[in-house]
Amino acid sequence: MRKIIIAGNWKMHKTQRESLEFLQDFLPHLEETPEGREAVLCVPFTTLNVMSKNLHGSRVKLGAQNIHWEEQGAFTGEVSGEMLTEIGLNYVIVGHSERRQFFGETDETVNKRLLAAQRHGLIPILCVGESKAQRDAGETEQVIFGQLKKGLVDVDQSNLVIAYEPIWAIGTGDTCEASEANRVIGLIRSQLTNKDVTIQYGGSVKPDNVDEIMAQSEIDGALVGGASLTADSFARLVNYQ
Ligand code: G3P
Repeated sequence: MRKIIIAGNWKMHKTQRESLEFLQDFLPHLEETPEGREAVLCVPFTTLNVMSKNLHGSRVKLGAQNIHWEEQGAFTGEVSGEMLTEIGLNYVIVGHSERRQFFGETDETVNKRLLAAQRHGLIPILCVGESKAQRDAGETEQVIFGQLKKGLVDVDQSNLVIAYEPIWAIGTGDTCEASEANRVIGLIRSQLTNKDVTIQYGGSVKPDNVDEIMAQSEIDGALVGGASLTADSFARLVNYQ
């Protein structure tokens, strides 16, 4: 059975105060959430601690947005697995296209981060996806298969989530057609040894398209940026029909 996971990626948004205000409005909505559906919030490092304390005992799981592969050392600006697990997390996003694009993340460093997450008992959410130019050049499959092949070396597929995030659909309002996202996610699954890996779609998921996206046979959840930032809208996504 594949697990359904609706995850918010807050990116570089929300102070501690704003995060607590969000929770106050969001948590009551979980009373309507069907059993077996998981809600996850991947928040900035600076709010992990306060979120962990305030999510204790709730159904929401907590995630970080990055992890370094070394245990400690001279790595300015990075955070280790032990630092994260001490706070009490479940998930960590690895290889988001914004990190690949703006912070020099490669398939090799993505692989190291995935292995570090698993070594520390965290479930990594591996992001893969093609750019507009790559899609237009007919390279979607080749790009994604390459990201998977290099990223997943020695990775335990029983402890993994994958998010298909076409870069051209992120933050643009230009959602990938649900049927096309379903097709690509089916292709991603064909490359895995564990066919039960949860594979999410990410890219302009909103209250008005979530039902269609989640009705697709291969799509097991969503990784959501903008629409996870307000309690009402994220609640609508978590409680999709
Ligand atoms: O990781 C989620 C993401 O990149 C999608 O962002 O704002 O298009 O939902 P958004």
